Amino acid sequence: MSRIAYVNGAYIPQRDAAIHIEDRAHQLADSVYEGVTIYKGTLTDLNPHFDRLWRSMGELRIAEPMGRAAMRLVLMELVRQNRIQNGFLYLQVSRGTAPRDHAFPDFALPSFTATCKRMDPSLIEQRAQNGVKAITHPDIRWGRCDIKATALLPNVLAKQAAKEAGAFEAVLVDKDGYVTEGSSTNMWIVTKDGTLHTRPTTDNILAGITRMMVMKIAKELSFDVVDEAFTVEAAYTASEMFLTSSTAGAVPIVTLDGKNIADGKVGPVSAALIEAYKMHLDSQV
Ligand code: PDD
Repeated sequence: MSRIAYVNGAYIPQRDAAIHIEDRAHQLADSVYEGVTIYKGTLTDLNPHFDRLWRSMGELRIAEPMGRAAMRLVLMELVRQNRIQNGFLYLQVSRGTAPRDHAFPDFALPSFTATCKRMDPSLIEQRAQNGVKAITHPDIRWGRCDIKATALLPNVLAKQAAKEAGAFEAVLVDKDGYVTEGSSTNMWIVTKDGTLHTRPTTDNILAGITRMMVMKIAKELSFDVVDEAFTVEAAYTASEMFLTSSTAGAVPIVTLDGKNIADGKVGPVSAALIEAYKMHLDSQV
């Protein structure tokens, strides 16, 4: 069965799905996106994803392609048509199609596309059990990383560097030696006294939905959580490190730049949070 994509009002075989050559997403990355976990056939935490999408569109003055209720129906129908139980849904809103010019067009209808793909849940289990490797990489991005825009070249280069180093993720580091986030994830450490640290979302990073949920869960489990940036040195000497994202969930990082984090094994705080996050997903099914 061919995958089905949604393109501006139509569900079509993905191999035939296309946008206009002068769509501003194609020429100028003038577009925003969201990535939503599909868990047991359910679109997870859709409301916070919509909140962030509407915020991204608002910050860039991109018009909404449709209201939230309609978008929810469109996306649920897409998941149904693709018969996906566990996977990932990608949606994108661009400012629309107009003759190329950097300034906003006087008139353009936003274009809205969505795709989804299957993901093997056993991969998530494996990463939770064994943890992953990460490397550090300079953060060379712009000053509005709070907007989930499709202009992702610095992230692409960082992830490629990680891949070439045999690592799962690149930990981005600002010019002062502080960790910002991952190339497509948020970063956390657990310090020796058991406190969780993650950079504040007011500090030019993406406000991850998984970050928000894991923070809520951690507080419910009575962990101390501080919204505070940490250095690469603090990460090297942390008792645990992990990342969060919709595609990956919560994933322990057991080596950074080839150095073990603590004993190089998955720690108890990460394990507890992974378990609780799974319960959070299950509660929405
Ligand atoms: N990435 N930071 C960045 C730079 C991201 O691109 C993402 C998400 C996150 C985590 O956010 P969330 O928990 O809402 O998924 C943090 C998605 C998965 C992607 O680009 O595919």
